[in-house]
Amino acid sequence: MINQLTLIQPDDWHVHLRDNEALDVTVPAAARYFGRSIVMPNLKMPVRKVTDASRYRQRILQHRPKGSKWLPLMVLYLTDDTSKEDIFEAKKSGFVHAVKYYPAGATTNSANGVSQLTRLDPIFDAMQNSDLVLQIHGEVTDENTDIFDRESVFIDRHLRRIKEQFPELRIVLEHITTAQAVQYVEENDRYLSATITPQHLLYNRNHMLVGGIQPHLYCLPILKRDTHQKALVKAATGGSKKFFLGTDSAPHAMEAKESACGCAGCFSHPAALELYAEVFDQADVMHHLEAFSSINGAQFYQLPLNESQITLVKESWTVPHEIPYCGSKIVPLAAGTKLNWKVKLP
Ligand code: DOR
Ligand code: ZN
Repeated sequence: MINQLTLIQPDDWHVHLRDNEALDVTVPAAARYFGRSIVMPNLKMPVRKVTDASRYRQRILQHRPKGSKWLPLMVLYLTDDTSKEDIFEAKKSGFVHAVKYYPAGATTNSANGVSQLTRLDPIFDAMQNSDLVLQIHGEVTDENTDIFDRESVFIDRHLRRIKEQFPELRIVLEHITTAQAVQYVEENDRYLSATITPQHLLYNRNHMLVGGIQPHLYCLPILKRDTHQKALVKAATGGSKKFFLGTDSAPHAMEAKESACGCAGCFSHPAALELYAEVFDQADVMHHLEAFSSINGAQFYQLPLNESQITLVKESWTVPHEIPYCGSKIVPLAAGTKLNWKVKLP
């Protein structure tokens, strides 16, 4: 039994930092032990242009703790108005690492998302030629599709066609939640990969719905049944290069979640790597954690691995019940849960 594990410093390939005073909380939380974070562009006014990304990046960096080398990696938000010039500029910038597709209305601040996917074909073509990564929120949003089927329908209805038409476009299927997504990513080529969140590895819909609704487990794509959870655990812990860490940590004030119309998102950063460590430990493959959290993502994004290391120690501790946030508080993912692993910070 191992009691300590030293890893190449991990990165988070999917996080929501929000803006303004939220950055006081989210940036130090992201920079605590991750080397880099892919920053989602779904602000109230989405990050559509390279100039938006540049200004947002500066606001983020102003909140970086002194001495920290953590880097935000920026993303543009695709809309019906995104142009090829936006893509070329993004590639040229050196700090925009991907472009994100949200279907209109799929999730928090996605009203400006894309109304009709096929309209983006010229943009996908430009991205393929520029070798800029496409990140996909893979859900359909039509009212006839059951919310639990949104991801698998998206794969069949859209992703298969995109893959056929743009075979060398690098795509990350974000926060996958189903056995169908796992299988589709596994059977595909090296141009397709996927991020997996801690909540989709640790929980299924029973955790969210049995014995009373647990609003702090409500996220999108929604938690699925346990067979899907098991498929995700197998994919993440199985040593494949195609799956990597993306927490989707997303802050929402407690009252916005504990509401008659609660919003979607889990704030996992107070214990992110430790939550993944629980999953890998339970699967008895702690030796696969480093590839998932520190290697596969960097390689897919064609970035160097981090040069420093961090150490996880077997030490029991409890995830905080709440943390202060913008005059309110956040109930983090797994609040009050006892964990067995802890990152030892210098
Ligand atoms: O649960 C989610 N929360 N899913 C998303 O796709 C967005 C995120 C947020 O921004 O809160
Ligand atoms: Zn997200």
